[in-house]
Amino acid sequence: MNHDNSIHKLSDVANKLSSLSISNIAAKINERRSKGEKIFNLTIGDFDPVHFPIPLILEEEIITAYKSKYTNYPVVGGMPELLESVSAHIKYFGGFDYNPNEIITGSGSRPLTYILFKTLINKGDKVINVVPSWNNYNYVQLVEAEEITFEAKPENNFMVTPEEIKPLLGFASLITFNSPSNPAGTTYSSENTKDIFNLIVEENKRRIAEDNKPLYVFYDIVYWLLTYGNTKFINPVEVCPEIKDYIIFVDGISKCFAATGVRLGWAFGPEPVIAKMKQMIAHIGAWSPKPEQVAVSKFLKDTAEVEKYLKGFKSGLFDRLDLLYKTIMQIKATGIDVDAISPQGALYLSVKLNLIGYKTPAGKTISSVADITNFLLDEAGIAVVPFFAFGANPDSLWFRISVGVCSLDDVREVCKLMKKVTSGITHL
Ligand SMILES: Cc1ncc(COP(=O)(O)O)c(C=O)c1O
Repeated sequence: MNHDNSIHKLSDVANKLSSLSISNIAAKINERRSKGEKIFNLTIGDFDPVHFPIPLILEEEIITAYKSKYTNYPVVGGMPELLESVSAHIKYFGGFDYNPNEIITGSGSRPLTYILFKTLINKGDKVINVVPSWNNYNYVQLVEAEEITFEAKPENNFMVTPEEIKPLLGFASLITFNSPSNPAGTTYSSENTKDIFNLIVEENKRRIAEDNKPLYVFYDIVYWLLTYGNTKFINPVEVCPEIKDYIIFVDGISKCFAATGVRLGWAFGPEPVIAKMKQMIAHIGAWSPKPEQVAVSKFLKDTAEVEKYLKGFKSGLFDRLDLLYKTIMQIKATGIDVDAISPQGALYLSVKLNLIGYKTPAGKTISSVADITNFLLDEAGIAVVPFFAFGANPDSLWFRISVGVCSLDDVREVCKLMKKVTSGITHL
């Protein structure tokens, strides 16, 4: 056997593909933990099932479905009863009006996102990606498209405004949205949603008149049921009905039901696009396991159980986020240049930590974003992700804090540690 790795000549796409944005930080955390250190990991967009289990009824239905031998191939694109349940679920919770022919299911939102890109995008097409954002760049790479990025501003809650996006619309084949956002934990307002989608409709009227390809919208709504206080997810089709011809939503059980390892997602949009996605998924085989399909179909039908689950789940997440938010505001009140955006949705908090120009209690000088990240990790055992890992400017002083793997006691401990280490820093 030849162990010389240089014999392998991979595809251009494989060679250019970048890793998941936070894998470097994960490696550092593992290294510290292997030395026996306690690290509070606020970096991952996942849930610890001890603190946030999946709905019990869903778990029971999955086991029952395996025992009932639902173990052969499911219908490509989703079993009819699942498509019916998804259709009723999105209607009940969000007012989305989509019939089963306009819905496809798969093994999570990722394969559906890839299939969506593959269905709509040619090599070299331009895709607008509002950053900071989750991994959309990787799908751009996989289909060999070109990315146009726009960095949204903290004063707009890291959401793009109609005025900002307008000049870019003419160039692209696809534009991506995600609300509530990973990493920012913020949402689009009703007014901005309406104005942005009206601009896209206007752009498409011009394109259709000239028989050109429309500008499609990929709207990732995987956190849409996780909103807090007065914040509500805004259904773009309700505030701008004409966008329905061009918009494809991707959603699933991963985030809203803490079921990242169960693997079931769905996408919905114009029937011709969805029909082609069904054809494509048949070749890729990225459907959800049949027992999961049967179980999710039954669970979603039980709206009272879904509501009960969401109430407890959301209050658990909100309590953690709010505690962290209040702590950052208390530190800000001491005169240090930190800030946070109050929690609106998802499991994330946007936190600004401008500690540049300070000396740490251990005597180190902080002069970069990496120094800030290392200071928290080395001197407080707290791991956070800088926004540059989500496509923001490398100098951005904003960080994502994620609470899905922490108990409330862990968060209380993190808050204490944050106050302690920041009270020990001195201005140079
Ligand atoms: C915005 C966003 N979309 C999609 C996903 C992936 O979802 P899934 O587990 O359904 O593939 C994530 C995961 O972190 C995410 O943050």
